[in-house]
Amino acid sequence: MVSIAIDGPAGAGKSTLSRTVAKKLGFIYVDTGALYRTVGLKFLNLGYDTDLNCEIGDVLNNTTAYIRFVNGEQRVFLDGNDVSDLIRTPKASMMASAVSAKPEVREFLLNMQRKLAEDNNVVMDGRDIGTVVLPNATLKIYLTASAEDRAMRRYKELCEKGENVTFEDVYKDMVQRDYNDMNRPISPLKKADDAVLADTTGYEFEQSLELLLKIIEEGIKGK
Ligand code: DC
Repeated sequence: MVSIAIDGPAGAGKSTLSRTVAKKLGFIYVDTGALYRTVGLKFLNLGYDTDLNCEIGDVLNNTTAYIRFVNGEQRVFLDGNDVSDLIRTPKASMMASAVSAKPEVREFLLNMQRKLAEDNNVVMDGRDIGTVVLPNATLKIYLTASAEDRAMRRYKELCEKGENVTFEDVYKDMVQRDYNDMNRPISPLKKADDAVLADTTGYEFEQSLELLLKIIEEGIKGK
């Protein structure tokens, strides 16, 4: 099986780009952030805040979270319900970041991600795909852009969805999430030594896509 691991900070365009690339290649696209968001939603629904003052393991023992593909599109389910849309709010983003720092949560989701890559040709995006989940991925890409660019892209997305947010708030959340994701003790976000760096600062979507496709063409040639 061929696996393309795409890691990078929030708002770098990983999901849109990965989905497009996967379609072009005929691979499935796995958005692992959606899994962390799904687990985060569980804690939100139980009334916890990002301090997560609770027995994480007990909550996980009473949680089912999984991915299904419907017409080739990933959907995520929490305790049997499709929560793919509910996980996209700013609150769910912060909670995802909080739960993703917990070793129990990372362990809970690890084998599911590996199994998907064992059984399918995948483009898998996240924070630790190249470093932890798929250390032997066929190709690893670290996709990034400046924090301002990433916040602006996320701000536009949220506005289009009708969310009532300011650019300042989105930017602040982005910087906070970068910090959380890069500084947690387990599986922090970092470029794998053997990952190819793709910096899309100042790029439009089409330019970023072109860059990625070029890296992929060269990276999986002959593999
Ligand atoms: O990619 P995203 O914004 O949907 O991810 C939500 C959160 O999940 C993010 O703050 C970091 C975390 N995450 C992670 O720790 N490891 C992954 N493989 C994917 C996401």
